[in-house]
Amino acid sequence: MIYKMNNELLLPSFENPVNSVNPVHFSRAAERALADRRACAPRSTNLSAVRHNSIMSQLNESVVLDALRQIRDPDLHKDIVTLGFIRDISIDDGQVSFRIVLTTPACPVREEMQNEAHQIVSAIPGVTSVNITMDAEVPKGRGLGDKVSVPGVKNIIAVSSGKGGVGKSTVAVNLAVALALDGAQVGLMDADVYGPNVPIMLGVSHARPEVDVNKLIPVEAYGVKLISMAVLQPGDKPLIVRGPILHGLVKQFLSDVKWGELDYLIVDMPPGTGDVQLSLAQLVPVQGAVLVTTPQEVALIDVRRALRMFETVAVPVLGVVENMSYFIAPDTGARYNIFGEGGGERLANEYHVPFLGSVPMGIEVREGGDKGVPVVVGQPESPQARAFRKVAEEVARQVSIEAMKPELVVLKKSQ
Ligand SMILES: Nc1ncnc2c1ncn2[C@@H]1O[C@H](COP(=O)(O)OP(=O)(O)OP(=O)(O)O)[C@@H](O)[C@H]1O
Ligand SMILES: [Mg+2]
Repeated sequence: MIYKMNNELLLPSFENPVNSVNPVHFSRAAERALADRRACAPRSTNLSAVRHNSIMSQLNESVVLDALRQIRDPDLHKDIVTLGFIRDISIDDGQVSFRIVLTTPACPVREEMQNEAHQIVSAIPGVTSVNITMDAEVPKGRGLGDKVSVPGVKNIIAVSSGKGGVGKSTVAVNLAVALALDGAQVGLMDADVYGPNVPIMLGVSHARPEVDVNKLIPVEAYGVKLISMAVLQPGDKPLIVRGPILHGLVKQFLSDVKWGELDYLIVDMPPGTGDVQLSLAQLVPVQGAVLVTTPQEVALIDVRRALRMFETVAVPVLGVVENMSYFIAPDTGARYNIFGEGGGERLANEYHVPFLGSVPMGIEVREGGDKGVPVVVGQPESPQARAFRKVAEEVARQVSIEAMKPELVVLKKSQ
């Protein structure tokens, strides 16, 4: 047995380089005011201009690229050629083929972009057919100060909230599975070491991680790699540890687990704004926090606190998800705003952070969680599953925007 569970030490300590926090500050409000945040969405294109410009040209690679320059990514404020999205162009006797490599497989407008590129290239004189392969390479999040990233992990995303019971774990699980369904490589770290319930929600509470050369191999469910206290210390024995040990656990979850290559490592946070949040922010570059709330005021107050906390520890807030937004009675179809209405979106506007979407209440969500079949898998056509998938696309988009931001916007916070 390489790890022992005595409430003091989870794994043998490895001296991984962990540096103190070097606070950075993002001028987010100004940035966001600039972006219209229509992820990967091409701006409307003047097709006749393309045709006119192309008539004079002979068909070759630069003609195709020039035409495709008309498509701009409004999130990144550049055209898709400059952004390096177009790869492997081949032209064979009027038959044009190329790849469009987006910044996330969860891009909500993949098809729209493909259609637009198809239209544009087809309009070039001499083109007889167009074959476009849609692909994605998730960019690695920018380094933040002196923090050391987890090898192979491109983006760490914390799912948090100031308040308990608002659906953080449910959002984290469905977000992770939705991103995996879209084709991303995803890990899920259950950082709620006192109340770990993610393994139940993923139906792997009986799985045990193997050990490979002193590293834990995460268990896997629905294409998501998972590590949780619940698979390390099964049963109902509570974990009783203080802050410094907790810090060590978070560190070991990050550095002593064989995560492999991941596009996104989703971290399910415990409620509140305590030690775990602080440890995570201090240990590794967290690309962003997704804040979950319900619409009512008591939840919003706690989320405001969480927003401030993430600002203080220099973790960008990717946006706000409103969970349990409303309930549609299955028998009558009547809508009930059990926890009020629109609070999440108002909060997002108030703090100039994106609103990532609202997820209605539904028995299938709770049932899916209890049965270990997330609603995005068990009831993929339900309004709740569709809402979670939209949230996943929105989160992926915000991560791309964060990752592609010029280093210039990272300003050292005045001490
Ligand atoms: N949209 C929803 N519709 C119906 N039930 C939901 C929804 N979201 C979450 N739930 C249920 O609410 C309960 C609490 O959710 P969850 O455990 O995800 O919250 P949490 O914020 O992670 O809680 P904690 O603060 O204890 O970690 C669970 O039983 C879950 O199935
Ligand atoms: Mg939870």
